[in-house]
Amino acid sequence: MEPPVKPIEWLGDRIRIIDQRCLPLKECDLTLETAADVAGAIKGMALRGAPLIGIAAAMAVAVEARHWTSSTWDEFEARLLAAIEMLSATRPTAGNLFWALDRSRKVLESHKPGGSPEAASSALIADAIAIYSEDLETGLRMGRIGVDLIREGSTLLTHCNAGGLATSGFGTALAPMYVAHQRGMNFKVYADETRPLLQGARLTAWELKRAGIDVTVICDSACHLMMSRGAVDMVFVGSDRITSSGDFANKIGTYGVAISARAAGVPFYVVAPVSTIDFDLEKGEDIPIEERDSAEVTEISGVKVTPRGVPAYNPAFDVTPAELVSGIITEKGLIRPPYPENLAGIRP
Ligand code: MRU
Repeated sequence: MEPPVKPIEWLGDRIRIIDQRCLPLKECDLTLETAADVAGAIKGMALRGAPLIGIAAAMAVAVEARHWTSSTWDEFEARLLAAIEMLSATRPTAGNLFWALDRSRKVLESHKPGGSPEAASSALIADAIAIYSEDLETGLRMGRIGVDLIREGSTLLTHCNAGGLATSGFGTALAPMYVAHQRGMNFKVYADETRPLLQGARLTAWELKRAGIDVTVICDSACHLMMSRGAVDMVFVGSDRITSSGDFANKIGTYGVAISARAAGVPFYVVAPVSTIDFDLEKGEDIPIEERDSAEVTEISGVKVTPRGVPAYNPAFDVTPAELVSGIITEKGLIRPPYPENLAGIRP
């Protein structure tokens, strides 16, 4: 099965990405040539979604390494460690960012004894490409596991964009939908618009429609009514970071969706690769929550929508407690409660 989108591509000495800020009105690409370009693209939301941020960060280190192969080991190492530090400072909640940068740091360290920037650079490039390919495989695997939960005629609800655009191509929460569609199943998807940056209305709706999947956008505040009316059979969301107890961070508003799902008796599933699980964090309250520019709330497409002088507060994520989660779909299987024990069982 081919991935529905290709949001990132390694081009040997540079990286091509879909500039997600343009969607859905225009389809435009960006070429990134340095780690600083990639850090800017991540911070500025040209690319986003935890798994894709991780892939882009690994490619950023690789692109930087390729650039500095003719320097001494000390200079090479210092440049790359600085790049890793800069990339780490882009999006604090995205667990996959730190997971991928950790991998790059280990590859770099393993080449210190030989001291060859050339060899380290080749290894970093190979590892970045491997992270990308592994994510494709992981997405498809989660899709094939999650599809078993979808029944013919089901109505699903999702929040934010945990689709192909947030990963190497198949997505996490949307992967079971792509597999169901490929198998010819009939189902319907409600996409929460996901204020303030509208990842649901702009991105989820764009990629599902493009794939021929029946998608309807609803206001974030409408999802509670839909669930209480029995109009939703199950919820699939992605995650930016899952703790060892099963608490998880995802786009702001996810916690409310989970509470409504519980109140209405609607099963609520998280779909995420094992690389999103931070086994070193136990409690959800320990996940760092990114706070973004208030202009994302006070303006829509550059037009001010709030009164001058009124401040806005813009936390980008919230944390949903594990007790609201019916199951966590990973590439290693569908994990059910009790999460502390069952997640420990899939720890790499
Ligand atoms: O701020 P974003 O757009 O990067 O937030 C993305 C999400 O919250 C996704 O649901 C999450 O990263 C999972 S993506 C497979």
